[in-house]
Amino acid sequence: MAKTVREDIGEFYQHYPRVAVVVTAQAGGRKNAMAAAWHMSISFSPPLYGVSISPKRFTYQLIVDSKEFGVNFLPFEAAELIASVGGSHGQKIDKFERFNIAWDKSLRTAVPILRAAYAAYECRLVDDRVYGDHRLLVGEIEAVHWLKDAFAAEEVLDLAKVNPVLYLGYDLYLTASKDSVRSLDREVYGKR
Ligand SMILES: Cc1cc2nc3c(=O)[nH]c(=O)nc-3n(C[C@H](O)[C@H](O)[C@H](O)COP(=O)(O)O)c2cc1C
Repeated sequence: MAKTVREDIGEFYQHYPRVAVVVTAQAGGRKNAMAAAWHMSISFSPPLYGVSISPKRFTYQLIVDSKEFGVNFLPFEAAELIASVGGSHGQKIDKFERFNIAWDKSLRTAVPILRAAYAAYECRLVDDRVYGDHRLLVGEIEAVHWLKDAFAAEEVLDLAKVNPVLYLGYDLYLTASKDSVRSLDREVYGKR
């Protein structure tokens, strides 16, 4: 298969699939949730996590107002929830009510933690920077919520217990199964 090159970039999706998460926020008595595929860990010490969010999102406004956000990691059975909060606007509706989303109180912030999440980060906003048509919001993680039983040694997700939601772009979702895992020892491979 020969590669094609383009210099007129436009929108680019060649780096997908990505893990899809739900970003939660609250401010002024309103809580909200949105889907996000553009997110990343940035630092262990201090523990920093980044989410790239368009300023058009209602969630962005709530994060700026409250200076906090939650990042929720869901099992594949909850993929519909991601499509629901990613296809609706919190300015117009209460998504928690409309989609019957169960949530729990957080520990260090006031962001809602989704009950269906196998893991979630509570973040305190430490930076908000413009990058083109999105804003990179960086949060310091103040609490990690996780189903310890869903993780094996070294805090590696046990795919026999939980399958994460991966997002292929447009409206396509998939997951990763245990039988696709390969263990490649970096010490061995780094010396070949
Ligand atoms: C799977 C998926 C991933 C998305 N990823 C992002 C993202 O990383 N950043 C972003 O700004 N919007 C993203 N969106 C779009 C928002 O989730 C969507 O615009 C949502 O309606 C915003 O809700 P809000 O206005 O209530 O905040 C994504 C949507 C989907 C379905």
